[in-house]
Amino acid sequence: MKFIKLFSVCLLLLPFISCKDVAQTKSDAAIEKKVEALLSKMSLEEKIGQMNQISSYGNLEDMAALIKKGEVGSILNEVDPARVNALQRVAMEESHLGIPLLMARDVIHGFKTIFPIPLGQAASFDPQVAHDGARIAAIEAASVGIRWTFAPMIDIARDPRWGRIAEGCGEDTYLTSVMGVAMVKGFQGDSLNSPTSIAACAKHFVGYGAAEGGRDYNSTFIPERRLREVYLPPFEAASKAGAATFMTSFNDNDGVPSTGNSFILKQVLRKEWGFDGFVVSDWASASEMMVHGFAADSKDVAMKAANAGVDMEMVSYTFVKELPGLIKEGKVKESAIDDAVRNILRVKFRLGLFDNPYVDEKKPSVLYAPSHLEAAKQAAVESAILLKNANQTLPLQASVKTVAVVGPMADAPYEQMGTWVFDGDKNHTVTPLNAIKKLVGDKVQVIYEPGLTYSREKNPAGISKAVSAASRADVILAFVGEEAILSGEAHSLADLNLQGDQGALISALAKTGKPVVTVVMAGRPLTIGKEVEESAAVLYSFHPGTMGGPALADLLWGKAVPSGKTPITFPKAVGQIPIYYAHNNTGRPANHDEVLLNDIQVGAGQTSLGCRSFYLDAGVDPLFPFGYGLSYTTFKYSNVKLVSNSLKKNEVLKVTFDLENTGKYEGTEVAQLYVRDKVGSVTRPVKELKRFTRVTLKPGEKKNVTFELPVSELAFWDINMKKVVEPGDFSLWVAPNSQTGEEVFFRVVE
Ligand code: BGC
Repeated sequence: MKFIKLFSVCLLLLPFISCKDVAQTKSDAAIEKKVEALLSKMSLEEKIGQMNQISSYGNLEDMAALIKKGEVGSILNEVDPARVNALQRVAMEESHLGIPLLMARDVIHGFKTIFPIPLGQAASFDPQVAHDGARIAAIEAASVGIRWTFAPMIDIARDPRWGRIAEGCGEDTYLTSVMGVAMVKGFQGDSLNSPTSIAACAKHFVGYGAAEGGRDYNSTFIPERRLREVYLPPFEAASKAGAATFMTSFNDNDGVPSTGNSFILKQVLRKEWGFDGFVVSDWASASEMMVHGFAADSKDVAMKAANAGVDMEMVSYTFVKELPGLIKEGKVKESAIDDAVRNILRVKFRLGLFDNPYVDEKKPSVLYAPSHLEAAKQAAVESAILLKNANQTLPLQASVKTVAVVGPMADAPYEQMGTWVFDGDKNHTVTPLNAIKKLVGDKVQVIYEPGLTYSREKNPAGISKAVSAASRADVILAFVGEEAILSGEAHSLADLNLQGDQGALISALAKTGKPVVTVVMAGRPLTIGKEVEESAAVLYSFHPGTMGGPALADLLWGKAVPSGKTPITFPKAVGQIPIYYAHNNTGRPANHDEVLLNDIQVGAGQTSLGCRSFYLDAGVDPLFPFGYGLSYTTFKYSNVKLVSNSLKKNEVLKVTFDLENTGKYEGTEVAQLYVRDKVGSVTRPVKELKRFTRVTLKPGEKKNVTFELPVSELAFWDINMKKVVEPGDFSLWVAPNSQTGEEVFFRVVE
């Protein structure tokens, strides 16, 4: 496929990166010259105007008036190419200096062709999927004049109550870094200066995913070491990959809102990482510093945000209003404004906006191109996770002559696209019901009886109808989950069971004695322990997007084989949250054989259970661990060997192992490498994902696979807050998930 080839070519070019670097340095120098020349002509008001982002008012004339005065640097939420061009024409031809506008939009997991939500893409453990999704999103969005997206969202999230968990890549720092970089590269293409490239925005900087209690916008308390170990690395990787912009987050961390936090914006982002793009505040996050109680009034807001290192303000308007006065009073230095404007202009030059400000309105449409739909389908295939498959219920065999398709998500074109779909059209969505009918033709009878019309519905009569339809079928396919509105921004939940009567629906279907295949389409991991027990098979598909239906139909009938793995731990119960694999050890870790609530003797002595760290009513294990997922085939790991088990800090660890397909289907396994640093100057996680790879094997095929890991990647922030590799003993696992695998030992020596 076209997109795969493009990305592979980029990877192949990596050895020649130094030639590219030389060219880059030259063009950078040329751009810096242009930036300085333009800056020297700008009035203070024009400079501050560049730092102002407005959301489209709808009325072109009102916006044109501001643009003419040079009061706007960027507009978000204009997606009509004719209007984009009209506004741009005002900026180019009627404003004093003709500085182009930067048109922005939340293009999160597709513009028109909607890919699986980012959490689903992460389940593929395939950076190619993330890259292709972003590339296609960029091509489609750029075709209407959008040149800046607010993605990727690379917030580490370990609390599925938080609705925005849908938008990120899950709980793991390494996986999120890899997928985030692939997305940055996909959005930005080979060069920002191409008409199909859009500037990426690494967000939300930083710590937003640690919102207290999973309630959106909430405070976080992340100490510096954890910030640097867990939350910052994906952003550092995005910055290194060339992400053009960053967005500050809504949360206050340890009392300091990100939009007023110079430690993260100046010290970390600019000084330590050398970031030279620009930083935008999140929607009104600047003025919300007043609500936080961090700024007294709009003047205080502008001062704190500008001095902290925010370059562009999204819809708070305090910069335009207050910066001129603050500069006069000497509370904000003009040099700070100059730096902010340099950062913004640099990105505009890199995007080639000065030379090509307009979008070609006459170009044939690329929206929903067949190759885009095909890539979206492939992404949905790779994103689906097989959680259970008792008695090889799946894939469905030719002996299955009648299926009952039930559940509120079976034919819900809008809902299966998930959160952040401003532009995707539900009329282009292919639902499972339609895809199944098309796939099976007249070979299988499809009885459709949803039972519930939407995920929150309570409707016992509907359930009875579904049960009676199901009793006429060989197999029941139950599509349940969450409507799009139940996850995403500001959509947190305290209860993660299936909503409405969906749990009752599955129980009633299971009682028919027919095999129930439950397909969950949701924006987060749900607590589906009961439904897993009641179902013969469970396929989890985080909202899979436009082509979710054909992908799921292919998976159910074995035209494709599941390969997704959980990018986040699935809790058994909400009370276990936060629950994540890379936790530190307690001094009294659970043994996994603890006596639970119902087995404790009445009157048991206080210490008779052995004082360990677990829940009396939920144990210590999750429902499904991080990295978990089955296939229709089976894989055997063996012969794990370290090339050397004693390594110096400048060496590369090499581990090899055999991976064999021991089942009947060709399939792809996501093999994972975990490491544990046994003793540190500060305590270290019990396991950390360091590498993963997708390996495709035919039945009976065996491959010898190698993971290479530079010892330098074992570095962590030590007791003195220095990033170092501490010599000592380590464990390593090559495994199909974070909970299993044979432990192998190695040592790092001075
Ligand atoms: C969200 C951002 C988004 C912005 C612009 C905010 O509410 O937090 O992620 O990019 O709105 O729409």
